[in-house]
Amino acid sequence: CGITAFTGQTSALPFLLQGLEKLEYRGYDSAGVTLVDSQGLNTYKVKGRLSDLKEELKHQEHHQSTGIGHTRWATHGIPSQLNSHPHTNRSNTISIVHNGIIENHQAIRNYLKEVGYPFVSQTDSECIVHLIDYYYEGDLLEATRHALKYLQGSFALCVVSLDHPDQVIVAKKESPMILGQNDQASFCASDIPAILEYTKDVIVLGDDQLAVLKPGSIEIMDFDGTLVELKKQHVPYDIAAAQKGGYDTFMEKEIHEQPYVIHETLRMYMDHTQIKIDELDKMDWHFEDFNRVYFIGCGTAYHACLYAQYLFDKWLNIPSFCMPASEFRYGDPKLDKKSLCILVSQSGETADTLAALKMAKEKGSKSIAITNVLGSTISRLADVTLYTCAGPEIAVASTKAYTTQLVLLCVLMIQLAQKMNCSILDVDSLLQDLQNMDVHVEKILSQKELIKDFSSLLKNKKDAYFIGRQLDYVSVLEGALKLKEISYIHADAYYAGELKHGPIALIEKGSVVIALAMQENVAEKTLSNIEETMARGAHVILITSMQKVSSDYDHVFKIDNIHPYLSLIPVTIVLQLIAYYAALQNECDVDKPRNLAKSVTVE
Ligand code: G6P
Repeated sequence: CGITAFTGQTSALPFLLQGLEKLEYRGYDSAGVTLVDSQGLNTYKVKGRLSDLKEELKHQEHHQSTGIGHTRWATHGIPSQLNSHPHTNRSNTISIVHNGIIENHQAIRNYLKEVGYPFVSQTDSECIVHLIDYYYEGDLLEATRHALKYLQGSFALCVVSLDHPDQVIVAKKESPMILGQNDQASFCASDIPAILEYTKDVIVLGDDQLAVLKPGSIEIMDFDGTLVELKKQHVPYDIAAAQKGGYDTFMEKEIHEQPYVIHETLRMYMDHTQIKIDELDKMDWHFEDFNRVYFIGCGTAYHACLYAQYLFDKWLNIPSFCMPASEFRYGDPKLDKKSLCILVSQSGETADTLAALKMAKEKGSKSIAITNVLGSTISRLADVTLYTCAGPEIAVASTKAYTTQLVLLCVLMIQLAQKMNCSILDVDSLLQDLQNMDVHVEKILSQKELIKDFSSLLKNKKDAYFIGRQLDYVSVLEGALKLKEISYIHADAYYAGELKHGPIALIEKGSVVIALAMQENVAEKTLSNIEETMARGAHVILITSMQKVSSDYDHVFKIDNIHPYLSLIPVTIVLQLIAYYAALQNECDVDKPRNLAKSVTVE
């Protein structure tokens, strides 16, 4: 979910709505606001998109200068008007918005029901407003602090009340919250882009901290009331970076930003062909003592982990494992002081990945986080944090964050090999190709019309089959995921050699097969598998760097011959574009696919 709050000398609504719009990537199944003045609390909420809320608000003027807003992604209770935030107390004098999960909400709900509180929603969040009401004796801050003592789980919380119409109380534990102020107002939101239009100097609220926002002033304290110093951070990117910049969709824009962000990420950790990861040099770790290495992430970030583990396994002699965070955390992994966990998360807020990291830390393991978000929770927990320089990624389906993760992980794996005294055979050509990666990616983008043409094969199709071997298999997993996510075409990814052990039964006249033959040592083998599908009537899109391919294939996309350990980067761009154009053909909402959220901050 995403939340916003404002208190100032001007109307609160414009800030709340522009902020929610930038936070819709965090969820968008319902939206709402509460506006406050000394006359009363006015709450408006709708099931559906923010545009539906705006429609609802259009009928009246809204001058109130304090308010809170919420865009929801359902966790407890179906998307509905009643389950939408804000939630208000029974006398309609206190209202809250909440992001996170209250684990003991049932116990609190049972108790409050017993003492006469009526619950109208199925959400865990509603218990918070009644609990604050229960402790309220005229001081909103005091009542909130009292209620916080009983809340277990995670929360970012904003509270407003009729008795304090120029005040917002903010509290945070584990869910993100960013504060800002200017001469006339104080405000906050779940993420930086939502406040960037109002200030570029932000304050990241810490865990177990409260803030009192008043027009033009902010006070921060611990839950026990001890004041905390305000620390402002300047945000180096501007609002334009968080908007579409001339493209039709955020995803299209983000796909096209890849040459630049790949270059930026490499610039941060490489000086020409020399790798320099200062963050690692500072650690007093005995790299050669590590006994096992885990790579952990979710979704697309998990695919980046598969890539890194492949390289690690090729170059180093330490056992390594790759797992989705949701499996890792319940799989009783063998962790001790000599294990190293490498966690990848674009947002740095994914609940399963954070849980995996906490578990690793409890066992004394060392950790490196790869994230895209400055000040994210993962960056505060991990021993070492390395940043991809992708800039804000707004489209739900990850594109530029993924390819920057790939280049950064490649650099990191080379560095770890060097630190563990393992030699890499052709490292110079690898580094050279890495340095030129922006040019290779640019070349793919310049052929997007051809890719668009190929993707018309997917028109009116219900299924697609992606096949590849070795590292190409990582790419087919990501290509199939991208297609599913945004076009709703069912897609499966198979090791090409596994096709004949079952999946080939599904191939019939008109089936679409997207095949990768980028790994020289196995490319010919994959071509034979393609023949097998063509013999059964499949239409094949072949992506390859082989010089000579038979003219039997109707749709061949040629890619420059670069190091086989790097070829998945240009391949990924081709697959992103195939998915993108297929989704447009199906008239899908590319940036906000159904049922998905950008940042999954709950288990
Ligand atoms: C969600 C998103 C995916 C993303 C995954 C992990 O499922 O829809 O695009 O790959 O979360 O997110 P993270 O921020 O941890 O990389």
